[in-house]
Parts: sequence; C-alpha cells; structure tokens
Amino acid sequence: MSRDELIRPDLEPLVAYAPGLRASQVRERSGKDVVLKLSSNEHPCGPVPLAVTAMEAVLHRLNRYPDGACVALTRKLSEQLGVPVESIVVTNGSNELLRILAQVVLRPGDEVVFPWPSFIVYPMVTALFGATAVRVSLTADDGLDLDAMLAAITPATRLVFLCNPNNPTGTIYGREAFERFLASVPPHVLVCVDEAYFEFVTHESYPDGLAYFDGERPIVVTRTFSKIYSLAGLRVGYGIMPASFVQAVNKVREPFNVNTVGQIAAYYSLEDEAEVARRRKENQEQKVYLYSCFDRLGVKYALSETNFVYFHTKKPVEVFEALLEEGVIVRDFGNAPALRVGIGTPEDTQLTIAALQTVAARLGSI
Ligand SMILES: Cc1ncc(COP(=O)(O)O)c(C=O)c1O
Repeated sequence: MSRDELIRPDLEPLVAYAPGLRASQVRERSGKDVVLKLSSNEHPCGPVPLAVTAMEAVLHRLNRYPDGACVALTRKLSEQLGVPVESIVVTNGSNELLRILAQVVLRPGDEVVFPWPSFIVYPMVTALFGATAVRVSLTADDGLDLDAMLAAITPATRLVFLCNPNNPTGTIYGREAFERFLASVPPHVLVCVDEAYFEFVTHESYPDGLAYFDGERPIVVTRTFSKIYSLAGLRVGYGIMPASFVQAVNKVREPFNVNTVGQIAAYYSLEDEAEVARRRKENQEQKVYLYSCFDRLGVKYALSETNFVYFHTKKPVEVFEALLEEGVIVRDFGNAPALRVGIGTPEDTQLTIAALQTVAARLGSI
C-alpha cells in the first residue's frame, strides 16, 4: 500500500472549504487604505464590553482545561430560552454541531435533503459520512421551497437541513409553511433548523424553531455566537434537541471542544440584551439603505432577514473584481449569477453604496 492509499478513497471527491479573501490581501492589490471585508457575514463591531472585560480577566487562568460540560453557559441558555439543560449542547461553533449531528445519524447510503443554494457545510458533512445529498432548488424569489423539500424525502432520508434565514439569500420561510412541513415530515427524519442569523430577524411571520421544540419530536435548532454577538473568532455555537440526542452528541464530540475564553464571552454576551436589540435595529436600517441603492441601480435582490444581502447580476466575475478594486470584498459563487454583500457599520454602508455606484457606472450596469 502506498502512502497516499492510507487516505480513505471516499474523501477524494470532497472539496476543502475555501475562505474568502482577507482584507490585507485586497489592501495590497487595490492600493486602498480602507478595505471592507463584507464576505463572511461577520458583525462589524467587536464583542460587547461586558464580554471583553470578562475575557481579559480569564486570560490568567488558561493553564486549566475548559469546563468540558459548559455548565454555566448551558444554565444561562436554559434560563433565557426556557429549555431544560438536558436538551442543550454547546459546541465549537455551530459548524461543529452540524458535523456531529451528521455523524450521529448518517450511515453510508442515507439521504440528506437540503435547500440549494444554502450553507456549504450541508453537502460537506453529507459527503463526509458517505450519505447522498439531495439538493432542492430555491423558489423564484430565492426562498426555501418547503413543499418541494417535503416531496424530496424518501424512505432513505435521515436528515433534513433547513436554513432559516437562509445563507446566502437571507430569506425566511413563514410560520404557515413551516407548520405544513412539520405536519407531514415523516418520523424517520431528523429536522435540523439552522438559525445562525436568528437574532437579526425582524419579520413578524418568522417561526422561531424553538416554539416547535417539545423535547420529543426529532427537531434540532442550531444557533451561534458568531454573528450578532461578534464572537466568530472564538467559535461558540449551540443546539437544542431531545435529551437523547444531546447524549449522543456528547459521545462524539471532543472532551473539551469549547474553549474557556469562548464560554466566558458567550455567557456575558447573553447579559447585554439591549446591545443585541440595538445591533438588530441598526442592521435593519443599513439594509434598507442598501436596498434603496440597489433599487436606484435597477439591481434585483432578495429581501433579507440577516446581516447580508444577496443580489443578482449577469456579470458576477466582473462585478466581484470591480468591487475589489474599490476595496469592497463581497462573496461570489463561482459563475452563479449572484453575489452576497454583508452589512457593516453606517459608514461601511456609505462606502459600499459609493463603490456599487462607481462599479455600475464603469460597467454600464451591475
Ligand atoms: C447558515 C449558517 N449556519 C452555520 C454557520 C456556522 O457558524 P459558526 O460555526 O461560526 O457558529 C454559518 C456561518 O457562516 C452559517 O451561515
């Protein structure tokens, strides 16, 4: 056996996650002093002050392993969400939890249904455990088609990923569609509702996945501290699921999967509800401002309940490159006719709008 034959051959078709360009790379290329990285759906501000103070205080204690059970953070989440601690698990970003859930339920040959385009990690974890991906196209207005997803479920389906709001389109499905879906989804399927952008949502028909969690039915809701709480660099996410699933996840995860600084920062981030509300409001205002620019330029975009906006373009490569030259990094999807731009501070929005206008003038349209 040669050296490389030691590597599982079924890993061959998998593709490593490709991170977007870093601001420093673009600064060099564009010669611009100010470069906006609006490609990874991060929050433009740092963590809340309470969290920063708590993190500074814990730095002197990092000789110790973290609390492997995340006891304090789990209790706090339990109080705030009204869910028993036995149904909560904290992970190294919600990304880790998506992988572990796949590991817990999937056997080779099983099917996993998910919307497409959606979060790149769903096909990755599906392939990792030898399952078959069943991608369901979005509706004409870039939303999840829950009826089509239901129709895609077969006796071989074990897992369905719902992304609400959806990344990259920012769209949500409403309560009525979700309830129709839940009423018909067969019991041999685990429904994972990925709510990474939950805290940004303002739409009144949005179904909070937790409202449908009763500790019995096979539903998992995943959330993260990476987005509105600005802790992307620390990797803290969590999930709510029936207690038996928490026990299974605990068997699979690393013993100390969530670092001490992350646990402390997440705990104190939950104390500042006023700041979360302020961020949600500001994000919404900036989004509306950005919409008005797209309207003026005649650009079609999806109505977003997140901190990013998905817009359509017939020349994605040119627009992506031209925005880079203006110092604005957005997310591209290869040759797919759309791009995704993140919402930053009010100042960032002004710069983004100026860049979009310059690019539209230079290319004739977007
Ligand atoms: C829809 C969705 N789910 C999950 C994640 C993972 O977030 P994290 O691992 O930082 O918690 C992301 C990150 O961008 C996302 O967009």
